[in-house]
Amino acid sequence: MSFRRCPQMGFGFFSSVLVLTLFFRPLVCQEPNTDGYFVSDFLQKMGLSSSQGYNFSAPVCSWQGVFCEQENVIGLVASGLGLSGLIPDTTIGKLRNLELLDLSNNKITGLPSDLWSLGSLKTLNLSSNQISDNLPSNIGNFGLLQTLDLSSNNFSGTIPEAMNSLLRLQVLMLARNRFESRIPSGILNCHYLVSIDLSSNQLSGTLPHGFGAAFPKLKSFNIAGNGIRGRDSDFLGLKSTTYLNISRNLFQGSVIGVFQEPLAVIDLSQNRFQGHISQVHFNSSFNWSRLVYLDLSENHLSGEFFSNLNDAQNLKHLNLAYNRFSKQAFPEISTISNLEYLNLSETNLIGRIPAEISELSSLRTLDLSKNHLSSEIPLLSIKEFQVLDLSYNNLSGDIPVSLLEKLPWMERFNFSYNNLTLCASEFSPGTLKTAFIGLLNSCPIAANPDLFRRKSPQHRGLKLALALAISLVCLLVGLLFLAFGCRRKTRLWAVKQNSYKEEQNISGPFSFQTDSTTWVADVKLATSVSVVIFEKPLLNFTFADLLSATSHFDRGTLLAEGRFGPVYRGFLPGGIHVAVKVLVHGSTMTDQEAARELEHLGRIKHPNLVPLTGYCLAGDQRIAIYDYMENGNLQNLLHDLPLGLQTTEDWSTDTWEEDDNNGIQNVGSEGLLTTWRFRHKIALGTARALAFLHHGCSPPIIHRDVKASSVYLDSILEPRLSDFGLAKIFGNGLEDEIARGSPGYVPPEFLQLETGSPKSPTPKSDVYGFGVILFELITGKKPVEDEYPDDKEVNLVTWVRELVRKNEVSRAIDPKIRGTGLETQMEEALKIGYLCTADLPSKRPSMQQVVGLLKDIEPVTHQ
Ligand SMILES: *[C@@H]1O[C@H](CO)[C@@H](O)[C@H](O)[C@H]1NC(C)=O
Ligand SMILES: *[C@@H]1O[C@H](CO)[C@@H](O)[C@H](O)[C@H]1NC(C)=O
Ligand SMILES: *[C@@H]1O[C@H](CO)[C@@H](O)[C@H](O)[C@H]1NC(C)=O
Ligand SMILES: *[C@@H]1O[C@H](CO)[C@@H](O)[C@H](O)[C@H]1NC(C)=O
Ligand SMILES: *[C@@H]1O[C@H](CO)[C@@H](O)[C@H](O)[C@H]1NC(C)=O
Ligand SMILES: *[C@@H]1O[C@H](CO)[C@@H](O)[C@H](O)[C@H]1NC(C)=O
Ligand SMILES: *[C@@H]1O[C@H](CO)[C@@H](O)[C@H](O)[C@H]1NC(C)=O
Ligand SMILES: *[C@@H]1O[C@H](CO)[C@@H](O)[C@H](O)[C@H]1NC(C)=O
Ligand SMILES: *[C@@H]1O[C@H](CO)[C@@H](O)[C@H](O)[C@H]1NC(C)=O
Ligand SMILES: *[C@@H]1O[C@H](CO)[C@@H](O)[C@H](O)[C@H]1NC(C)=O
Repeated sequence: MSFRRCPQMGFGFFSSVLVLTLFFRPLVCQEPNTDGYFVSDFLQKMGLSSSQGYNFSAPVCSWQGVFCEQENVIGLVASGLGLSGLIPDTTIGKLRNLELLDLSNNKITGLPSDLWSLGSLKTLNLSSNQISDNLPSNIGNFGLLQTLDLSSNNFSGTIPEAMNSLLRLQVLMLARNRFESRIPSGILNCHYLVSIDLSSNQLSGTLPHGFGAAFPKLKSFNIAGNGIRGRDSDFLGLKSTTYLNISRNLFQGSVIGVFQEPLAVIDLSQNRFQGHISQVHFNSSFNWSRLVYLDLSENHLSGEFFSNLNDAQNLKHLNLAYNRFSKQAFPEISTISNLEYLNLSETNLIGRIPAEISELSSLRTLDLSKNHLSSEIPLLSIKEFQVLDLSYNNLSGDIPVSLLEKLPWMERFNFSYNNLTLCASEFSPGTLKTAFIGLLNSCPIAANPDLFRRKSPQHRGLKLALALAISLVCLLVGLLFLAFGCRRKTRLWAVKQNSYKEEQNISGPFSFQTDSTTWVADVKLATSVSVVIFEKPLLNFTFADLLSATSHFDRGTLLAEGRFGPVYRGFLPGGIHVAVKVLVHGSTMTDQEAARELEHLGRIKHPNLVPLTGYCLAGDQRIAIYDYMENGNLQNLLHDLPLGLQTTEDWSTDTWEEDDNNGIQNVGSEGLLTTWRFRHKIALGTARALAFLHHGCSPPIIHRDVKASSVYLDSILEPRLSDFGLAKIFGNGLEDEIARGSPGYVPPEFLQLETGSPKSPTPKSDVYGFGVILFELITGKKPVEDEYPDDKEVNLVTWVRELVRKNEVSRAIDPKIRGTGLETQMEEALKIGYLCTADLPSKRPSMQQVVGLLKDIEPVTHQ
């Protein structure tokens, strides 16, 4: 091909040379006054930055985005090429056969005057540019135009009446410009319009008269974000419209008039519609099952809204916020299973939030703010939640743990201005200040922040990687372990593997026996009853996992038979080592109440409490799941085992049964338990736990069963109090028995039952129990049925109290700990026990005072 002279010499020529030679390409021009010449001239003058994809010496019809018919360019698509500036005359305006012009997504600022001569255009797409022109009446020249998209520009002025010539127009997109004044009645001529989008302009006035009937094919109509005035009746006659968006205008009239076939998306938000939507059922033949999206927010609607929306089976988005509805209870919506967005903010709701919301499994956004909803937040088990706003209500009680757990994964949540209590050291101060404004902080004193530490969303990736790495290492270690055959673990592994398979589909009711009781879990399908594990909300454990974790609640896994029922040991999948406590005697609480109470207990955390890990409601049985405590309880350590016995190496007995004493691993050989320092540590830790329950929780929690066997030692030998709060779940029938406590720990006020009405437990009855434990720790003797040197004494308390009174208290000190610390401190501790066991409850110190007294006699750490 020969090189020809370019049409415009001079600066343009040289700059073209410069540009093109910079790209190591020969300067090539097209024959003047050909389509190729006009297109290349256009592209180059609009600053096509690199000529990538354009070999200007090749025939124009081979260029990217150029479509030809018989060597004539009929289509030019130059979208997103960075074209900028005014389009000059005598470029694309000369493409006489052009039918398709798409210059969208560039930086074009103005149109050439000869553009309007392109009488063959069928599609013109100039959207997303910076064109600041008026739309001239010349638009009427485009008699064949089917698609006009000028959206997202800076067009201003009126939309010309000459639109009436665009008889073929199907798609009219003028959104996001600065068009003003009325919509011209000329568009009523465009009978073929299928889609109109004039949203986000500055249009005013009314819709042209006869609007509804003019567009028999109109499917989508959007005039949102203008200042157009109108009435419901304007839309009468729209036969095909499925999408109607007139949000943010000045429409009024009865909302009922707008509902007509076959609308699926209705956005009437921010207008002045009135009326009772509940009447749509009666006044129109509207088919609710088509409705997908309904936004009526910020209108003047009154009355009640739907008492029953069950017909709207396909609804995904419902916003009724900010209207003038009358007081009403939460509507019945649990069957709208596709609902993703529900906004009932400021709709005058009263009563409680129904737990059935949990059945809306797709719900991502729930806004119930600014209502009068009261009582407690139900246990919402919604997996997809991203936005939750419950602010400005009258909700009370705790935020359920299962919900708190999910918050860090949510986009936004707001509980401000309610009567809720919150203990949440896991949230940043910023979050606490914005999302929990005005909530009572029931946060426990001395709570261990480590226990609350939680992943933040931005660390999830890292955490996941870490978790993967760790699980790989674990897998390797596990394989090694298996390969080298640790007999005991191998057996455990085998048991688990078998039973897990068996448990998959088994159905109940299940019956289990221990020495003293038989209990039944009335569960139909083991896999259908879920186990809630607070810290791992995403693991979907079921009763079947509990069955396999405890080898079908085998007697061999029985740890103890407590007053509430049997306690089993088990490993949940993922190596979660737990103690499973079955509250056998049944309960007067409903499932909801019991779950709520257990959720509440799950929130109570303190380094000296045995954490409640989770729970399961299996038929009538409430099953509490605790972290497993490696080192047994104080009862075992002080009284049941010969002190100093080393059990760590005692793996020879290869069965679960032999493991009943919980493998006291660290105690013993070092004689830790036989030091004053360690016994003081147990006393102080237990006192702290009780002080926390009494003074750090609101309302205070009374333990009701403080005794040595309720004090456990965790893997680092930190004392931890167990079983707090269970009495409540147990229900009233057992109240009296629980209140009476365990032999030797019962305060005198409960023994004198004949005087007056039965006493109910108080924090001071817990203080008494603690005093007994303190005596046990220092004397090494059991509270009852032990040998007390002064033979007429029948129990530990009367014996020690008598010695204190006689000022002979040092005789009571356990010979095993004598000499391991200051005897004066031990005597002082016995005197604290004396105060705690005072006959009159009012004479006993509070647990907070006891903590202070015990700290005063703390043995120095380095001896
Ligand atoms: C450009 O097109 C011409 C003619 O079709 C051809 O000879 C030349 O190799 C092409 N150049 C490039 C870089 O593709
Ligand atoms: C115009 O172009 C934009 C961007 O390429 C595209 O998103 C839009 O759908 C086009 N308009 C029409 C009506 O096809
Ligand atoms: C839009 O047009 C107006 C004049 O009509 C001008 O003042 C304004 O700068 C333009 N905006 C942009 C983003 O081009
Ligand atoms: C209605 O139009 C406005 C403005 O374009 C938009 O923000 C809103 O999302 C639209 N509503 C629906 C239901 O599409
Ligand atoms: C709707 O129907 C009720 C009675 O069924 C009637 O009182 C009311 O006027 C009707 N409203 C409209 C807007 O037709
Ligand atoms: C409503 O529309 C659905 C399909 O969209 C149809 O199956 C149903 O029969 C219609 N109901 C009525 C009452 O017309
Ligand atoms: C609920 O609707 C109101 C009114 O339209 C709006 O201000 C609020 O942001 C919406 N809430 C959510 C969570 O989208
Ligand atoms: C808030 O709820 C409590 C009961 O939980 C009720 O006594 C009180 O009147 C309610 N306050 C308002 C403003 O509704
Ligand atoms: C807040 O809730 C508590 C009970 O949780 C109740 O005693 C108190 O009256 C409530 N306060 C208000 C203002 O409703
Ligand atoms: C929660 O709602 C309150 C009251 O409307 C507001 O001040 C606060 O900014 C909101 N916080 C968040 C995180 O949205």
